[in-house]
Amino acid sequence: MRVLVTGAAGRLGSRVADVLRGQGHEAITADVPEFDIANFPSTRAWITAAQPDFVIHPAAWTDVDGCAREPDKAITINGLGAGNVAAVAAELGVPILYVSSNEVFDGTAARPYLEYDRTQPINPYGYSKWVGEQAVMAANPRHMIARTSWLFAHGGKNFIQSILNAVGAGKPLRVVVNEIACPTYNDDLAAALVKLMESGRPGIYHMVNEGYCSRYDFARYVLDRTGHTETPIERISTHAWARPSTPPEFSPLQNLAGKMIGVELRSWQGAVDAFLEKEGLRTED
Ligand SMILES: NC(=O)c1ccc[n+]([C@@H]2O[C@H](COP(=O)([O-])OP(=O)(O)OC[C@H]3O[C@@H](n4cnc5c(N)ncnc54)[C@H](OP(=O)(O)O)[C@@H]3O)[C@@H](O)[C@H]2O)c1
Repeated sequence: MRVLVTGAAGRLGSRVADVLRGQGHEAITADVPEFDIANFPSTRAWITAAQPDFVIHPAAWTDVDGCAREPDKAITINGLGAGNVAAVAAELGVPILYVSSNEVFDGTAARPYLEYDRTQPINPYGYSKWVGEQAVMAANPRHMIARTSWLFAHGGKNFIQSILNAVGAGKPLRVVVNEIACPTYNDDLAAALVKLMESGRPGIYHMVNEGYCSRYDFARYVLDRTGHTETPIERISTHAWARPSTPPEFSPLQNLAGKMIGVELRSWQGAVDAFLEKEGLRTED
């Protein structure tokens, strides 16, 4: 298939383009500044000229705290911008896969969120991604919405690297215990998104590595797998760590819809091990 990938210079977009090419698809990549999803005429001209068979749309403003400071900008890019991309795909009669977030939920559930649970974002980034979901569904009936969370990717800023950098610099570690979600390996997610696309089945999906943990557990696991079993981590609460955006406390996603069509990801622990192995950071058990 000829697939247009937005946000293709980003962590997920670049990996999706690689997976597509590796599997014999044609990937047409687009990103700012040449391609700006917040500009409808330019988005329309760009996508129409590309003549794709399918659009995968990971582009977004992903600075969660920045979104809290400038909520209108967040809605313009993540919400209305997603609607622009979906509308042009609809004009061309092609499906769109929009990448969304666990932050569309409020984090008060007593169990992991299922695909059609009630959404209720509690911060401007989550709200902007929710607006994106609504705009995509309204503009293009041939939509797939793939929510994910806590991405860790090779070659970019990520939680694992931040923890290991802090240890390397001899800094004391303080990590929150009351933010719980699903760590997700960028490589696993990109492969799953391509499978979803190939399935041709519209709907909402939760595309995360299996299982869930707190930020503290995530950090502890990384340290234990990299030879830092003796390094202490202070447990703190999100309430003790003021930031512009308030994350949902309990927002694990459960993948039911994807499993039904054979699209599922391995456990988050298995994914972290694979990531560390590839980075040459894994020590023997
Ligand atoms: N990272 C996570 O933990 C996480 C969790 C849940 C969901 N998600 C979702 O997953 C998707 C991919 O995330 P990611 O981590 O790969 O993000 P990323 O690395 O920040 O990539 C996003 C890309 O979109 C581009 N972009 C920003 N504004 C744009 C605009 N107006 N028009 C066109 N492109 C624009 C960015 O360019 P600039 O860098 O120049 O701004 C960047 O290249 C996003 O939709 C995000 O909401 C991510």
